[in-house]
Amino acid sequence: MRDVSTSQIRVRVPSKINLFLGVQGVRDDGYHELVTVLQTVSIHDTITLELAGAGVSVHPSARRFMRVELEVDGVGGVPDDDSNLILRAARSLMGVLGVGGDQDASGAPNAVTRLHLTKRIPVAAGMAGGSADAAATLVALNHLWGSGLTREALRDLAEDLGADVPFCLTGGTALGTGTGARTVQVLTRGIGYWVVGISSEPLSTPDVFKRFDDVGVLTGYEPDVVLAAVRAGDVDALGASLWNDLEVATFDLMPGLRRKRDAMLKAGALGAIVSGSGPTIVALAPDARAAVRIAEQVEGVFDRVEVAFGPAGGPELSAT
Ligand code: C5P
Repeated sequence: MRDVSTSQIRVRVPSKINLFLGVQGVRDDGYHELVTVLQTVSIHDTITLELAGAGVSVHPSARRFMRVELEVDGVGGVPDDDSNLILRAARSLMGVLGVGGDQDASGAPNAVTRLHLTKRIPVAAGMAGGSADAAATLVALNHLWGSGLTREALRDLAEDLGADVPFCLTGGTALGTGTGARTVQVLTRGIGYWVVGISSEPLSTPDVFKRFDDVGVLTGYEPDVVLAAVRAGDVDALGASLWNDLEVATFDLMPGLRRKRDAMLKAGALGAIVSGSGPTIVALAPDARAAVRIAEQVEGVFDRVEVAFGPAGGPELSAT
């Protein structure tokens, strides 16, 4: 009888918000030059990964022929076909490793990796949910398959998958430049408590950037004040300096959002902005208790409201 073995792993990955986002210009390829401060917050997706097949846990050659399957539950709107960034991340890793194909020459049963995504991060909401899942997939598959790729090699793959994916590999708080994919970690002190206001109507990131080209302004603002505020752990200064150049484009596409942002401020937030391309509104609270109070007050304004803290680290692997 053949040795049919399985091994399993779980990865939990946080979402991201932008504490600052400045658009500095448009490149020839249509991408926008950004300067941004990214931070992970504690709304997580979880992916469970299972490797099964004949001899897969004892012999790497048994993993040469690999099928990858994806199942999704949790909040709606996630594709489970090849447009899903999880499958694209898996395929890009397989490409580098020279792994692929459904069957070996003898037609022997091949290895299969099953991924199960439990989605909590809102979809098409400006919180890098797809990018977080892609980063988590790279880290987890590298471990599960014993591929031994370095962080730098994973970063190269991440960059090809999307501008936010390299940041999501590491998480924490970072300054992003270029398309946002070039990141360096920045020093922070303390924890920030955020009220996250989620609208179920999605917004497409390309649409928001396109609208920015029509209605946006290159403010030339720099993130210095935000960086000083996070370094000092000064929530008042951070609240007052949150900034997003894309906000005008997001508000133009979804006029009702401005009122929702104002509701956060009226409820006592120190500052409130659109996260990334939106439509999620993130509001900084003075402390944890105030965050709960603000969340209660804006409950009826949004489709879903969460209290989250940041920074929230990066992808975390654990046994299932
Ligand atoms: O990199 P990612 O696939 O996440 O980007 C999605 C879309 O957002 C891009 O196709 C582009 O239209 C827009 N984008 C941009 N400038 C950036 C990042 C994204 O124009 N710096």
